[in-house]
Amino acid sequence: QLLGQRTGDLSGRRIVVSAGGTHEPIDPVRFVGNRSTGKMGFAIAEAARDRGAFVTLVAGPVALDTPWGVHRVDVQTVREMLIALEQAAADSDAIIMAAAPADFRPASPADHKIKKAPGQERLVIELEQNPDIIASIPGGGIRVGFAAETRNLAEYARQKLPAKRLHFIVANDVSAPGSGFGTETNQVVIFHDDGRVEEFPLLSKYAVAHLILDRVLERLEARGG
Ligand code: CTP
Ligand code: CA
Repeated sequence: QLLGQRTGDLSGRRIVVSAGGTHEPIDPVRFVGNRSTGKMGFAIAEAARDRGAFVTLVAGPVALDTPWGVHRVDVQTVREMLIALEQAAADSDAIIMAAAPADFRPASPADHKIKKAPGQERLVIELEQNPDIIASIPGGGIRVGFAAETRNLAEYARQKLPAKRLHFIVANDVSAPGSGFGTETNQVVIFHDDGRVEEFPLLSKYAVAHLILDRVLERLEARGG
C-alpha cells in the first residue's frame, strides 16, 4: 500500500473496529438513536488498512461510504452489533470499540405502526437496558474503548477501564469545540490500564486514528506477537 506514513507496520494483523450509533426499534417505522455519525470509527478502519491490516468494520446505521479494502458488516441494533463483533473478535489482534451503542432500547417494540388516538397528549415508551457489548466479549486481543463525556471526563473514563477490561480508553469531551459528533477533528486524552495518561491537541480524526493504532501496535509487540 502506498498511502500512510507507517506503511505496512500492521501487515497481517486482524483489526476489528465498530462505528456509529444504533437504531433501536419503537415500531416498524421509528427508532431510538443517537447523534453518532461513525466518522471516528471509519477513520480508524482507513488508517488500519493504510498500515496493512485486515480490517473488519462493524457499522451501525451511518451515511458513510465503505472504505476500499475494508470488510464491512452492517447492523442496526446493539444486539446485532454484539453478535457481529463476537464473531469478528474470535480471531482478532485488536478490537477498537468506537461505536456509540444505545444504552437502552424500547422494551416491547410494536409490531405495527403506532397510531395516535384522538386527543392523545402523551405516549410513554418504556426502555430496557441493552447489553454492554465490549464487556460481554472476553478476548479480541488488544481492547480499546472510547468514552464520550460532557463532565468529569477523567473520573468516568478511568472507571470504564477495568469494568470493560480495556488496555486503554480514548476519552473526549463532546461538549468541547471541535470534538464530538459529526466533526472532522477530535481532542482526546488516552487513559491506560497501567495509569499512564496522554493528552493530545485538537487533531483530525485520521490523525487520532493513527495515534490509537500506534499504541495498539506497541501493546501487540510488548506481548511478543
Ligand atoms: N459500549 C459497549 N456497549 C454498550 C455501551 C457502550 O460496548 N452497550 C462501549 C462503547 O463503544 C465505548 C465504551 O463502551 O467504547 C464506553 O461507552 P460509554 O457510552 O462512554 O459508556 P457506558 O458504559 O455506556 O456508560 P455511560 O454511557 O453511562 O457513561
Ligand atoms: Ca453509553
